Amino acid sequence: MTDAHIAFDDVSCVVDDVPILRSVTARLSARRTAVIGANGSGKSTFARMMNGLRQPTSGSVRVLGLDPAAEGMRVRSRVGFVFTNPEAQILLPTPAEDLALSLGSVPRAMRATRVEQILEQYGLAGRGDQPVSELSGGQRQLLALAAVLCTDPQLVVADEPTTLLDLRNARRIADLLLGLAVPTVIVTHDLDLAARCDEAVLFDDGRLVAIGAPPGVIEMYRRLSA
Ligand SMILES: Nc1ncnc2c1ncn2[C@@H]1O[C@H](COP(=O)(O)OP(=O)(O)OP(=O)(O)O)[C@@H](O)[C@H]1O
Ligand SMILES: [Mg+2]
Repeated sequence: MTDAHIAFDDVSCVVDDVPILRSVTARLSARRTAVIGANGSGKSTFARMMNGLRQPTSGSVRVLGLDPAAEGMRVRSRVGFVFTNPEAQILLPTPAEDLALSLGSVPRAMRATRVEQILEQYGLAGRGDQPVSELSGGQRQLLALAAVLCTDPQLVVADEPTTLLDLRNARRIADLLLGLAVPTVIVTHDLDLAARCDEAVLFDDGRLVAIGAPPGVIEMYRRLSA
């Protein structure tokens, strides 16, 4: 299949002689893909390989046709990555400054208005000038997501984007991610969110053990976990 936005071919990853991904082959071409599985099964490793944060010991990874290990900059300029630790992604002291930095390509005169719109959209209205250090964990996660998504990436990879969020914000972010026009990969333990995707991938002990329509894959995960 050539229209896959993400392609893993026989990818293994060994760290300190311990295999953490084992011969993973996957073609992701659905608009919304959920990645599910137990703690330590390899989901984040799979996601981190998509932006070159982790490199395969063997096999090949292609993201939008690019090799993230060799062309990391080009991949990161096209793909929006949202990882579990929001602190690592917030660069400036306040939400307004951080968003303005992400909006570098927006004409200066329009930037402040756009920042206000984004703060509102992400449940952070009125917090533009509050020091990031004083935001709650969930508010930081919302900001990290906003800063990535406002750059209009061609592909989005999010690792547990709703983990720190309350019900209302989890729903807000889930709706937002699921409504994106670009292909989106969501690593999640939220099986309701996974069920709303077009395709699901199941990891178990470093292996990709199922890929297909979410209901069947979720059912298999439930059976594996029983
Ligand atoms: N840098 C590392 N060094 C050694 N082992 C690692 C490293 N990173 C991950 N691992 C191991 O690889 C395995 C897979 O980790 P990974 O973070 O991909 O799991 P996960 O499926 O995302 O789990 P969770 O649901 O808890 O986030 C785990 O056993 C983990 O301990
Ligand atoms: Mg993880």
